[in-house]
Amino acid sequence: MTAGLVAPQFVTQGAINAMRTERIDSRNLLAVRIVCFVMQASSISAVLAVAGVFAVSYAFAHQEHVKPMRAPGPSYAAVAPIFKQNCVGCHSGPHPKNGLDLTSYASIMKGDHDGKVIVPGNPARSRLSEAIHHSLKKPLDSMPPGRTLKKAEIFRIDNWISSGAKEK
Ligand code: HEC
Repeated sequence: MTAGLVAPQFVTQGAINAMRTERIDSRNLLAVRIVCFVMQASSISAVLAVAGVFAVSYAFAHQEHVKPMRAPGPSYAAVAPIFKQNCVGCHSGPHPKNGLDLTSYASIMKGDHDGKVIVPGNPARSRLSEAIHHSLKKPLDSMPPGRTLKKAEIFRIDNWISSGAKEK
């Protein structure tokens, strides 16, 4: 390729020298010019082709870096303040209500006397979600007792559960 790039200059220079020394006539010069033109054109396309190959291999090599990132679901940090503000008054300490401690990720996932209160990916089967929707059979189990969380808070908890109830 380097030869292809360098050659036209040599040929042109050669033609000029030849003209100076009157070793070639103008008809030959035209032929030399055509050859130069073709060589220059082919060296340009060679450069473009090589650049293209580089671009494509670069794109392939870096493909994993440009993959769209998985939309991250909300983490425990997104719902912890809701529990802290509305639930831990009764669901913490040595004897939390129904054995349900809502102060940490681990204790929430552990559940209560009756088992798990969160089924990751499935709010409809999670007792904690049912409780805040007031859809448990016993009205006394509607949480928090006597009032309802804000719609946005309920939505955030459900969204956290349906995206896998992840800690991080
Ligand atoms: C005023 C105290 C109080 C607050 C505040 C409270 N709870 Fe409760 N919670 C209870 C009591 C008492 C029970 C047991 C009810 C029963 O056994 O009938 C309970 C039970 C539960 C249960 C188990 C329900 C069942 O029957 O399966 C869940 C889940 C629950 N609470 C979640 C929450 C959440 C989430 C919050 C905050 C949004 C909350 N609680 C706030 C007192 C409270």
